[in-house]
Amino acid sequence: MKVCVIGVGYVGLITSVCLAYKGNDVISMDSDYDKIEKLNKGIPTIYESDLEPLLNEMVEKEKLEFTTNLKYGVESSDVVFVAVGTPPNENGSANLDYVFGAIRSIAKFVNGNKTIVIKSTVPVGTQKKVKRIVSDIIHPKYKVNILSNPEFLREGTAINDFFNADRIVIGADNKNEAKMLLRLYKDFNQKIIITRPESSELIKYSANAFLATKISFINEIANISEAYGSDIDEVVEGLASDHRINRSFLNAGVGYGGSCLPKDVKALIKIADDRNVRSELLTSVENVNKNQRKLLFKRLELTLNDVTNKEICILGASFKPNTDDVREAPSIDIINDILSSHGKVKLYDPIGMNNMKSLFHAKEIEYCKDIYTAVTACDAVVILTEWEEFKESNWKLIKDLMKGNIVIDGRNVLNIDNMLDLGFNYKCIGSRVQKMSELGTGVIETKIM
Ligand code: UDX
Repeated sequence: MKVCVIGVGYVGLITSVCLAYKGNDVISMDSDYDKIEKLNKGIPTIYESDLEPLLNEMVEKEKLEFTTNLKYGVESSDVVFVAVGTPPNENGSANLDYVFGAIRSIAKFVNGNKTIVIKSTVPVGTQKKVKRIVSDIIHPKYKVNILSNPEFLREGTAINDFFNADRIVIGADNKNEAKMLLRLYKDFNQKIIITRPESSELIKYSANAFLATKISFINEIANISEAYGSDIDEVVEGLASDHRINRSFLNAGVGYGGSCLPKDVKALIKIADDRNVRSELLTSVENVNKNQRKLLFKRLELTLNDVTNKEICILGASFKPNTDDVREAPSIDIINDILSSHGKVKLYDPIGMNNMKSLFHAKEIEYCKDIYTAVTACDAVVILTEWEEFKESNWKLIKDLMKGNIVIDGRNVLNIDNMLDLGFNYKCIGSRVQKMSELGTGVIETKIM
C-alpha cells in the first residue's frame, strides 16, 4: 500500500521503517530538514538498537523515502499516519497544536479518497474534532476516514514491539471505515481490537496510567516493607506468583520517567477533571512517583551526614536502559538536589551523556568517560538506571577506587550479599536483606508430595 507518515519521532520513524519492511511504499515526512537529510542517508535520528540496518535496507530498496514535502506525501498515499508530538501544556493537558496543524495541512492536499490515522497520543474526543476540521476543508466529493490507532511501543525495544504488540487497537466510527487499516495490518499476527474512537483514545492513556500505577504501587509497598524489615524481593516473588497480578512492572526503585508515563498520567488526570471526574488514584500515583525521588535523595543525605562538598557519582542518566532518552529521568531531579545542597556530581551513562549536556553544563557536573573514572575518589555512588554494564562492572575495583564506601542502588540491581561482602555501605529500595543462610539464597519452594 502507499503510506505517508507525518513526524519522524520515535513513533513516526519506527512506524515508517516497519511498514516499509512489510512491503508498503512509505513516504515519511517531517518539517525538520536536517533530520530528513540524515534519514535519507540511512542515519537514524533516534537511538534504537536494530534500527540502523533496517532503515538502511528500506532506503536502499526504495521502499522508504524521507521528505519535507507534505503535499507530495499526502497526494502519493492512500493512508496517512499522523505521528507528531503532543507535549504537555503547563496544566498537564496534551498540547494538540502539532496534531491540528498537521491535520489542516493534510486536508488541504487531499486529492482523492483517503484514510487518515491518528497515531499520536491524543485526549479522548480528538478524533471527533479532527473529523470536523477535515470535513470543513476537503472537497465534498472525497471520502476521508479518520481513525485512531494508538501505539504501544517502548523505547529500547521499539521494533520488536511494533511487530509483536499484544494488540492493535483501531478506533473507527464504523467497521467499514477501518477497512484500509485492516488491510495494512493483515500480515501482522496480532489481536486486532476495533472500538469506537473515544474508547481507543482512552485505551492508550489507561494502559500507560495502569503501568505507572503498578510502579507506584510497588514503590509504596517497598517503603512499607522497609518500615517493617520485610524484603521487597521476597514480597514481589510472592505477589507475582498470583497470575492475576503478574510480575511485569513490579520493579521497585526510584520511580518512572520517560516521555510517556509521566506525561500521560498528568494528561489523564486533566482529561478526567475536564468532565468533573476527580482522579484520586492517579493523583496519588503521580505523588508517590515524585516522592520516590525525594526519598532517594534523603537517603543519600542521611547516609552521608551532609552532602556539602561531597563527591557523588551518578550512574545512569537515561530514564531506563537501552535508550539515550533523559526526558523526565530521575537523574535530573537527583542531580539538581545534590547541586542545590552544594554537593559535587560526577556522571556516567553508556549513551545518555550527550542529552544530559543540554541540561547540565560541563561546569556544573563532571561528565566521565567510563564507570571507573566516574567512581574514582567519590564519597558515594548512586545507581539510577539499571544498565547491564553497571551490574557486570568490577565492584571490588570500584571499592578500591572510591574514597567512601556508600552505594545507593536506586534500581535494586546489585547483588546484596556481594556488596556487603566487599565492605560497601549498601542501601537499596525496600530493605532487601542478605539471604538467610539456613534457607540458601532466594525463595524456597515447598512442594506438597
Ligand atoms: C511506555 C509504555 O510501556 C509503552 O507501552 C508506551 O507506548 C510508551 O510508554 P517507555 O516510556 O518506553 O514505554 O518505557 P517503559 O519501559 O514503560 O518504562 C517507563 C519507566 O518506568 C522507566 O523509567 C522505567 O525505569 C520505569 N519502570 C518500569 C519501573 O520503575 N519499574 C518497573 O517495574 C518497570
